[in-house]
Amino acid sequence: MIRLLFLFCTVRAVKAIKWDAPKPYDPVWLASVQSHAPVPPLGETRFSCCFDDSDVEFRLFTRRNPFVYQVLKTNDSSNLRSSNFNFNNKVKVLAHGWLNHGDGPMPESIKEAYLNVSDLNIIVVDWGKPANVNYIWASYNVAMVGRLLTEFLNFLIGEGVSMDDVHLIGHSLGAHVVGIAGAYVKQGPIDTITGLDPALPLFTLGNKDARLDKHDARHVEVIHTCGGYLGFASPLGHIDFYPNGGTRQPGCGFDYRGLCAHNRAHMYFAESIISAVPFTAVRCVDYDELYYQGYCKGTGEKLIMGGFDIHYGKDGIYYLKTGAEKPFALGDVNP
Ligand SMILES: *[C@@H]1O[C@H](CO)[C@@H](O)[C@H](O)[C@H]1NC(C)=O
Ligand SMILES: *[C@@H]1O[C@H](CO)[C@@H](O)[C@H](O)[C@H]1NC(C)=O
Repeated sequence: MIRLLFLFCTVRAVKAIKWDAPKPYDPVWLASVQSHAPVPPLGETRFSCCFDDSDVEFRLFTRRNPFVYQVLKTNDSSNLRSSNFNFNNKVKVLAHGWLNHGDGPMPESIKEAYLNVSDLNIIVVDWGKPANVNYIWASYNVAMVGRLLTEFLNFLIGEGVSMDDVHLIGHSLGAHVVGIAGAYVKQGPIDTITGLDPALPLFTLGNKDARLDKHDARHVEVIHTCGGYLGFASPLGHIDFYPNGGTRQPGCGFDYRGLCAHNRAHMYFAESIISAVPFTAVRCVDYDELYYQGYCKGTGEKLIMGGFDIHYGKDGIYYLKTGAEKPFALGDVNP
């Protein structure tokens, strides 16, 4: 509410600004997920609901088993050694979001894209049970699932996996699962985290321990597609991409609850891994340029959103346009 008010005032004060004021999402529904206290910081009493540790599964896929997963168990060395886990290959960990599960579209499409390009150890975190409760409980469960993932990563390190080879990718609440896991890994920092429209509701900017931020890995990239509503609008990583301004997405229609825009983040990312057409983005002067205009003219510097390779050493706020339907990438069409 404060943000909307602020935006409204600013837009009136500054002239000649092109701003497609976003239509508000269903206010009643938003209030039901946003107006509750944030999760308590780690170290305090934690609440969680409706799951046991054994409900969180780590599912391995490789080119040897692209469709049928093998379950890896924390601290079970012989199980790891007898699986298809290949110590010479890099590790991608995929964490889905609220109301989703391990065989949902987010981990599936990204797994498929990665295995198409290269042989990797893809580990899907199935936290379907703790994620399929009401939003309030699900967001409390995030911290617990993050801790379980931390233990699992500590186990992999102990077995000889280098944190330099680990890339964590999370969508929605899953972005905070991987953020928390990254922050607490014993021999961190892990190499890279990609946050796909990290969830906003219940996660406040102030409480860094309970959400993804740039200290959770050596390199943190974020794609914002429903910012300010279901996703975080403010930059959280070293690199923050704002497709179509980062709030509403073309092809999503009225998108009453913002779920369509929220899901675009993982669709863009999955496509970017295999796409021959790049998601070329332009660098904004700063977040304010994007925030007040809804787009950026660009500083001349460009960067491709997503893709197979990681943008080590880069930083900044980037804007790009996409198409309204698959394939979404438009190439280098931005100013
Ligand atoms: C794995 O081992 C570590 C270190 O011994 C221990 O702290 C942790 O609780 C164990 N986790 C599981 C799930 O067995
Ligand atoms: C990659 O995708 C192409 C096109 O869909 C498909 O023909 C090919 O079999 C895939 N390769 C692998 C290794 O999955």
